Amino acid sequence: MEQSNSFVVGGKSFMAVAINCAAKAGEWIASRLGNHAKLEQKLSAQDLVTEVDKGTERLIRKLVHTHFPHHSFLGEEGVEPGPEASAQALADVEQEEYLWIVDPIDGTTNFVHGFPYFSVSIALAHKGEVILGVIYDPMKDELFIAEKGKGAYVHGKVMKVSEESMLQDSLIATGFPADQQYALPLNMKGLNHLVPKVRNVRVAGSAALHLAYVAAGRLSGFWEIGLNSWDLAAGVLMVKESGGEVTDTMGQPYHLGVRNVVASNGSIHQQFLQELASAEACK
Ligand code: IPD
Ligand code: CA
Ligand code: CA
Repeated sequence: MEQSNSFVVGGKSFMAVAINCAAKAGEWIASRLGNHAKLEQKLSAQDLVTEVDKGTERLIRKLVHTHFPHHSFLGEEGVEPGPEASAQALADVEQEEYLWIVDPIDGTTNFVHGFPYFSVSIALAHKGEVILGVIYDPMKDELFIAEKGKGAYVHGKVMKVSEESMLQDSLIATGFPADQQYALPLNMKGLNHLVPKVRNVRVAGSAALHLAYVAAGRLSGFWEIGLNSWDLAAGVLMVKESGGEVTDTMGQPYHLGVRNVVASNGSIHQQFLQELASAEACK
């Protein structure tokens, strides 16, 4: 039965469940590092999935539904590959009262190669608005959490975005999207243009963790073309709750359907958008 505090149902808070899911999932993923049994390609050789991705999503879904049987669930591995199927799957559930949005392993390529940079990303949206985000890096045992209006924390410490005010002093991250028709060429245009204008660029392979690092002030900004709601939802809330700014690449406000994202400490945001625009790398 729902209590007066909308963040608590049946005595268990949404955040407690999200953290529990992330911790259990992370522990299992870490135990399977270097010994996954089955590697499959989705749309291309750059788009991978293992039985660990699928099993982790099942584990999280089961745990969420144990506590909140009536909540909706959108997980990457429950959706057909490709941007059209993702957009449709989101549209089908976007306005549900409570929607859990989950990327069981963000950074599967790293997981497969044993490169220790990947994360579990869990968000909860209420009628289309993200109210909670948890990102867990099992390799560093780092847990990043955010609740709407209540701030963002890494292992209990308040997160705050970095203070660079010029692009030239900024450390930026991006990704190399698997979609080679549209997203990758556009991202490469932005990358070519930005590299000489910033302090440096990192491409570490987990969009969710990149966003958590922007929130924690370890990166000044992040952009990428062609991401999905499960890559972004938790991390976007984290950046905002840490004092940063998030828009699409055209400068429009973030919503769950945004695929081309720019996240930053806020101070460099306009400059960042302008450079992407002058590179014609926005859409
Ligand atoms: C990928 C990672 C990567 C980003 C790709 C994503 P996945 O997610 O976030 O950093 O560049 O665009 O698809 O496939 O490992 O969950
Ligand atoms: Ca992902
Ligand atoms: Ca994934």
